[in-house]
Amino acid sequence: MKPLFIVLEGPDAAGKSTQLELLAAELSCRGIPVLTTREPGGTELGRALREIVLDPERYIEPLAELFIMLADRNQHVEEVIKPALAAGKSVICSRYTLSSAAYQGYGRGIPLEVVQGLNELATGSLVPDYTFLLDLPPEVALERTGTKDRFETEGRGFFAKVRGAYLKLIRDVPNGYVIDATLPPEEVCRRILAHLPLA
Ligand code: TYD
Repeated sequence: MKPLFIVLEGPDAAGKSTQLELLAAELSCRGIPVLTTREPGGTELGRALREIVLDPERYIEPLAELFIMLADRNQHVEEVIKPALAAGKSVICSRYTLSSAAYQGYGRGIPLEVVQGLNELATGSLVPDYTFLLDLPPEVALERTGTKDRFETEGRGFFAKVRGAYLKLIRDVPNGYVIDATLPPEEVCRRILAHLPLA
């Protein structure tokens, strides 16, 4: 089987990290080698960038924020994702290009074609085989978040904007699916697995 590049998207607290683990376990059980990773912060450089970009005490210009996410992504694709796929490992990644389109594009108001062009540059046009949007109403997302990072302090309006953006964007994503993230984790995982070409 060709290694798969699977991306989980969705708001904070949609349960992406839980699904990352559940899915990895399911793939491993089937004898499929798998690597789980995330953005921002999937490399050493990325972890330093993550600390900066999530710091609620810091003011960051929208374009600067986009460039930080892109720097993280470029390093991550070249250092982690491409080598893993080349070595025959499937990759499950929490957040990727769609996050920049939703948060920096729709959320911060940077023109979408700019974000998408830069996403292509940063990834060398590497696109996921499957993208799952774990969809959650803003009030549930806000309720679920504990200590707040720089994005989570934005409040309900921002969350609502990002959710609407995600739902619109996913329609144009090949093999992109919306999954109801209010369901129990095992059911969310079952629904994701149903879309994957696993023997
Ligand atoms: P993270 O804490 O990893 O997500 P979660 O809280 O869902 O586990 O994500 C950090 C934040 O970074 C999140 O609020 C969304 C934001 N983000 C962007 O704005 N643009 C991007 O391109 C990425 C990858 C993340």
